[in-house]
Amino acid sequence: MVVPNFRIKEVEEIRLISKEEREKAIKKAGYNQFFLNSEDVLIDLLTDSGTGAISKEQYSASKKADESYAGRTSARNMEETINDIFHSKYVIPTPQGRGAEYIFNQIMTSKGQVVPGNIHFDTTRAHIEYAGAIGLDCVVDDIYDTEKEVDFKGNIDLDKLKDCIKKYGRENIPYILITATCNSGGGQPVSLENMIKTREIANEYKIPLFLDAARFAENAYFIKEREKTFKNQTLRGIVFLMMLQFDGCLMSAKKDGISNAGGFIALNNKELYDKLDELKILIFGFNGGLPGTTQEIISKGLREAIDEDYLRYRVWEIKYFGDKLIENNIPIVKPTGGHAIYLDAAKILSHIEKKNFPGHALAAELYLEGGIRSCEIGSLLRGRDKEGSDGISRLELTRLAIPRRVYSLEHLDYCVDIIKKVYERRENIRGFEFEFEPKRLRHFKARFKRLE
Ligand code: F0G
Repeated sequence: MVVPNFRIKEVEEIRLISKEEREKAIKKAGYNQFFLNSEDVLIDLLTDSGTGAISKEQYSASKKADESYAGRTSARNMEETINDIFHSKYVIPTPQGRGAEYIFNQIMTSKGQVVPGNIHFDTTRAHIEYAGAIGLDCVVDDIYDTEKEVDFKGNIDLDKLKDCIKKYGRENIPYILITATCNSGGGQPVSLENMIKTREIANEYKIPLFLDAARFAENAYFIKEREKTFKNQTLRGIVFLMMLQFDGCLMSAKKDGISNAGGFIALNNKELYDKLDELKILIFGFNGGLPGTTQEIISKGLREAIDEDYLRYRVWEIKYFGDKLIENNIPIVKPTGGHAIYLDAAKILSHIEKKNFPGHALAAELYLEGGIRSCEIGSLLRGRDKEGSDGISRLELTRLAIPRRVYSLEHLDYCVDIIKKVYERRENIRGFEFEFEPKRLRHFKARFKRLE
């Protein structure tokens, strides 16, 4: 048992609608979790993004927000906090993470180029592709073995990275991106040693190295817990050492910023900053589309997210959930990562082919059985490649993302019971095919029909 570092002062009522109502609701949603109405969901584990509970400090800071168009104290507070934590000089605020990805790739990336990373998140990949380039995953192979328990499955495979640079030529690589933790591979952390070694390669070839910092604090906690060399460092110290390896970072503040909105790019290069900032003003406006209230929430949220007591509880609660599933022999990604449990749908529903989306089928059943909303991370999310064939996703997962400071252990116990029930009747679960498939970002917009 770990000491909790918060108590809950405000509650929101939730309700389990009847089985018939759930069947009706998901059918009406075209079996797409994104089309479900939130009041029809009992436990919402669709995402940990923008779904955290804000603290009373965040709330009271937001009440004092300055909403002046320019020269805002709230904008300065956010900037100072980011520069302090990420050891940067310049900050470009954006409405959310993908806003940062958009302007960054429009400036940095050109047609025909290649951006290597561990595993790019889907919006990251989409923005790299939107700029005409290719996002290439160079993660260690360990991540594709969901059973294998190694400490840093989010690491870049340094040989794959070097091969990529040799194959495409350094002039065709605008930057390298490390996503920490690695969301698409199970919320797995990246070691500081791996960041340092990647930096050495980046230096050798003179390629900028950036961090997708959406879950930087959870990653820093894993470094402290698992990497012996750094166990006596403070979390702030670890983040400092992390940031020493990077030319800057892009961040969705909706995760480890514990905010309902917002994102940013933080960096030290003035010339690049000027270019990015110009595009920011053009597209998102002077304040990057953020009201002063959100800027205050992010300033406080980033500091709360690197509190060691908070992180200890956060990482422990995910492990608590995972351990209960493992006790019941339910295949999940091991070891548990920082923000979610990932059910290994390829193993659980081994009778469903990739093209019929086992991870998506499992998510539908969790909703039908107990009103739990989750999300596929697999072939559906991966989408099609440029030639139109299904992109190869080596993992077929169903992610149950845990919002920050929202659910209690009882909520998680309830989820374990529901998952167990679904698991017991797994052999009768059927896959899906498209009724409608949009060209891009299909997991948000597609509609499905269940196979007979
Ligand atoms: N990078 C990572 C690693 C992410 O997980 C996300 C979003 C983004 C960038 C984009 O940020 O949503 O603020 O535009 N992940 C969410 C999720 C959507 O559910 O994992 P955004």
